[in-house]
This record gives sequence, C-alpha cells and structure tokens, in this order.
Amino acid sequence: MDRTDQPTIVTRRNLEFQFDADVPRYWLGNDAFRTRFFDACSLRFPAGERFFVQCVRDYAGAVRDPSLAQMVKEFIAQEGQHSMQHSRFNQRLEAQGMPVELIDRRSRGALDFFRRVMPKKFTLALTAAGEHMTSITSHGLFERGHQVFAEADERVVALFAWHGAEEIEHKAVAHRVYREAADGGYLLRAGTMLYITLQFFLHTFFVMTKMFNADGIAWHQQLAMWPRGLRWLFGRNGLYRPALRHYLAYFRLDFDPWQAGGMAQYQCWRSTFDATGDAVLACRAVVWPQRSTSLRAEFVAA
Ligand SMILES: [Fe+2]
Ligand SMILES: [Fe+2]
Repeated sequence: MDRTDQPTIVTRRNLEFQFDADVPRYWLGNDAFRTRFFDACSLRFPAGERFFVQCVRDYAGAVRDPSLAQMVKEFIAQEGQHSMQHSRFNQRLEAQGMPVELIDRRSRGALDFFRRVMPKKFTLALTAAGEHMTSITSHGLFERGHQVFAEADERVVALFAWHGAEEIEHKAVAHRVYREAADGGYLLRAGTMLYITLQFFLHTFFVMTKMFNADGIAWHQQLAMWPRGLRWLFGRNGLYRPALRHYLAYFRLDFDPWQAGGMAQYQCWRSTFDATGDAVLACRAVVWPQRSTSLRAEFVAA
C-alpha cells in the first residue's frame, strides 16, 4: 500500500459503549476461556499502552518528518483513549471479583522497572513489536469477526472493534519511529518480536488463570478447558491462524507494516462510524452486517 493510500489517524473521543450491568459475565458465547482471553487482554491494555506511549515519546524529539511527528501525536492520543475505555470496561471485571487493581499495579511496576534498566532503543523495539502484535490481532478480528463473535455481546465487541480499527490506523507509527528516529536495526527488531510473542501469550495466560481462579473454576475443570481453548487460538480454524503469514512478515528484512492486512472491513467500519458516530453500529456493519440497524434501539432498551 502506498503511503498516500494509508488511512489518516483519527482520535475518537467520548465514545459510549453502555457497559451496563446486563453485560453477561461470559459475554463471548457463554464461554469462560474465550471471554477471559479478551478480558485478560483488556486488563493488560492500560499498563501496556502507557508503556508503549512512553517508549515512543522517548524518541519524539528525534523525529524529523513533520508528518510522522503528527502521527506520533495522534498515536499517543489514541492510546490514551484506549486505556481510558478499557479501564472503564475493567471496572466491570473488578466488580465480578477479578483482581484487576492488583494485576494492573504489578504490570505497571514491572514495566516501569523495565524501562528504567533497559536501553531506550530496546524498549522502543519492544513497542514496535507489540504494535505489530496488536495490529495483526486487529486485522484477524476484522477478517474473522463474523465467526469469532458470532455469539457475543455487541457492546463489548464494539469496544474491541473500535480499538482494533485505531490499532490498524496507527500500526506503522512505532515502527517508523524505530527505523527513522532511533535508527533501529534488524536483529534487535526480530529479537524483540520473539520476546514479545512469548511474553504476550504467557502473561495473558497467567492473567486468565487468575481470572479462572477468581471465577471459582476448579483446577481440574480449568485443565480440561485449555486444550480446546488453545485449539480455538492456534488451531487450523483458530483466531491466530490467518495472522501467521502476517506475523512472519515481521522477520523480513524489508518489512513494512502496510505490506499486509486486508483493509476492506476496516474501511467498512470507518465509513459507518464516520456516517453515524456510533461505534456499535460501525462494529455491527463489519461483524453482523445481516442485523438491521433498527435493532439498535431495541438492544439498548432491552
Ligand atoms: Fe491501543
Ligand atoms: Fe497501538
């Protein structure tokens, strides 16, 4: 994709997802594993995105291209909104008895320590790799949303769809700062991707286990959930299977974030959002196009 074809980065503020008390505990297909996978991601976002913003900001003064400098500003603004909205969603998890505050505090402490002791180019490379992980997840969700979220609460899916759309919009920012402002090279880029891949899944699984415990799911029941859950994530029709090629592209010498990832569903989300200003309707246009928009009023009233 030519740079002139790339979508502009727009920060959408004051969105309303209406996370009322009637959002089901297991909002994704009444399935504890699937729900807690996304919940664990949400729980990790505020601390992780704060870290990403800090690491990009470390090099903001070294950005020479004015258009990239503007993108850095929008990236920071978007991530701020993501953290705010996910923190709101996470309050629901806290009310369910999930150890949100404890995990968030420990994550922030660990990331702050990491930032103090590691070179800034290293933490920026980690950020660029983390942004690639979030963007391939976003592309995957847009492409497979109709399957993954076939039975889900649309308010929660709308949160992840909005976040995913903005992750796609700013997916190249940290990578360009790494290349252009930090003069980052290949080995560090590839090495940090391997690190973040392991860290992302292991920490997410750790948080999920904490959540299963808080849910009161017995250990032998948890043990039985993992094989099926891992197949859902990595199996032939799994969530991450379509993203594999896109993931591996990061290890190419000439990697560019805009080389891969379908944009049709993103464009559909964006045009619907631009026309309505409603993240739920934009999500529905991508994930459940067969649903009539007139159902929106009924859904909200229900
Ligand atoms: Fe984000
Ligand atoms: Fe991001």
